[in-house]
Amino acid sequence: MLILTSPEEMFRWRKNLGDEGISVGFVPTMGFLHEGHASLIRKSTQENTHTVVSIFVNPTQFTNSEDFEKYPQDKDGDSSLLRALNVDVLYSPSPSAVYPEGFNTSISAGHIATKLEGKSRPGHFDGVATVVVKLLNTVNPNNAYFGKKDRQQLAVIQQVVRDLNLSINIVGQDTVRDHDGVALSSRNSRLTEMERQAAVVLPQALRAMISAFHAGETSFAQLIALGLQICATLTTWRSSTQSLWKRLSFQ
Ligand code: PAF
Repeated sequence: MLILTSPEEMFRWRKNLGDEGISVGFVPTMGFLHEGHASLIRKSTQENTHTVVSIFVNPTQFTNSEDFEKYPQDKDGDSSLLRALNVDVLYSPSPSAVYPEGFNTSISAGHIATKLEGKSRPGHFDGVATVVVKLLNTVNPNNAYFGKKDRQQLAVIQQVVRDLNLSINIVGQDTVRDHDGVALSSRNSRLTEMERQAAVVLPQALRAMISAFHAGETSFAQLIALGLQICATLTTWRSSTQSLWKRLSFQ
């Protein structure tokens, strides 16, 4: 596996590879890789001749400095997993390689980025959109793979790619879940045992909302009310659930 750390190295590798009979798949990540990332990477290696994975903890998408500083990292574990998955290139630039002095441009994804999660994390999706476009321009892939766990992020990226006429196919991949239904996420490593137990209410609430939808309930407000009611009725976990919500709200 080749390890590249600057946009210039990445441009050179991509240019030398050419396009004849070549298809490049790209999986952008912030590291501390888990089975969810592995499923994106496997899809990419199945569908492309070459796969590039980036690991870059992007400072501009964090709206809380403690969250940025404590973001989990495991360079050795990540490298071993990427080698085992036959990744061709690990692109792992430094913050100054991505944002050199004088950098002053940002992409705003418009109203899609300001509702739901964007409401509690103003500027988060602009940071995501900006870094993803920079990474896509640097790697120049045919296909780029994103998890549906971050559904709003996927929608923002699809919107930006469409609006800016980027000729890249964006592929959304199903969420990978733990044995108890909680979605795999790098940040789960920062939950206490109580918070991890409390997190089980989230897939339970989602499952109930999906069942209600299939049974004919189409009112968004009613479905949200049902989900919140299920979270609230699991009273024994209420206090840790509240602290979980607090932590999730500044991801
Ligand atoms: O989903 C993530 O890990 C990040 O938001 C991404 C897409 C790599 C951009 O930094």
